Amino acid sequence: MFTKLQDKWGLSSRTFWIVFIAFGLTGTTTAFLTRYVTLWLGMDANSEWYYRLGVRLFMLLFGYQVILLTYGFLLGQWAFFWKYELKLLRKLKILPPAALKTPIAIFASGAGSNALKIMQYFEQHPTISVDLLICNKPGAAVIHHAEKQGVPVLLIEKDRFFRGDAYIPVLQQHRISFIVLAGFLWKIPASLIAAYPNKMLNIHPALLPKFGGKGMYGENVHQAVLDSGEKESGISIHLVNEHFDEGKVIFQSSCPIEPNETPHSLAQKVHQLEHAHYPRVIETFVIENSQPATN
Ligand code: GAR
Repeated sequence: MFTKLQDKWGLSSRTFWIVFIAFGLTGTTTAFLTRYVTLWLGMDANSEWYYRLGVRLFMLLFGYQVILLTYGFLLGQWAFFWKYELKLLRKLKILPPAALKTPIAIFASGAGSNALKIMQYFEQHPTISVDLLICNKPGAAVIHHAEKQGVPVLLIEKDRFFRGDAYIPVLQQHRISFIVLAGFLWKIPASLIAAYPNKMLNIHPALLPKFGGKGMYGENVHQAVLDSGEKESGISIHLVNEHFDEGKVIFQSSCPIEPNETPHSLAQKVHQLEHAHYPRVIETFVIENSQPATN
């Protein structure tokens, strides 16, 4: 039961328990405060039932939500609880329904600096939203970034990804229209590529077609670029097909390599290019490819 709830909320185990505790504390505190407020208002068992009911309802409908947000904030889970409240207010028709946006999912495996930039860029975007972060590495920093941004996280397992349904039903449940890979180190199974034809982007930290392929990720790439004596490196954003880093390149940007360059300093330059361009390239790509074909 807990695992189902954890999946529904899209939280890592640790955050799930923090959120669970926040709900528990809110329930107890609301009950305690309701009792205190009734006493403070001078009510007892002889007071009119509708007065008592009114106070209870007020505490349940209004007090509970304020206390929940307060615990959420104190426990570092503001984004989750704020989204929870907005959803509730929309369900109760107190707020108008959220604007329909094109939902995208990010796949990431590690530090997640690109994923964070993308989530921040689309946070208030009028037509695109990041609705899911998929990660294959428990404890990766990117999970923490997503939770801070209030983006549901799905931790995936190798067996189901490569030999099962590749999590396509989960992506469909979230109505995901586009997938962007941001430092995701597993190969994408053919079934997933087929489910998102020309709707999946990857970023690669070098100027493809050179320095791509299996094993070419992170500092391995920068080391290979330096070893080859290239004068420049850069980034490539490309469509994903069944071969590592071989899909059609839709964007590249380059940076010079200095004589004393190290893999680390080159990685920093490349990261700067990635952060500056990837969110905008995704935006243009999604907008251009979401539009229904005319004629
Ligand atoms: C990025 O530089 C990305 O281009 C690279 O991993 C890094 C992830 O950094 N991807 C690959 O090498 C894929 N072949 P981040 O986790 O800080 O975004």
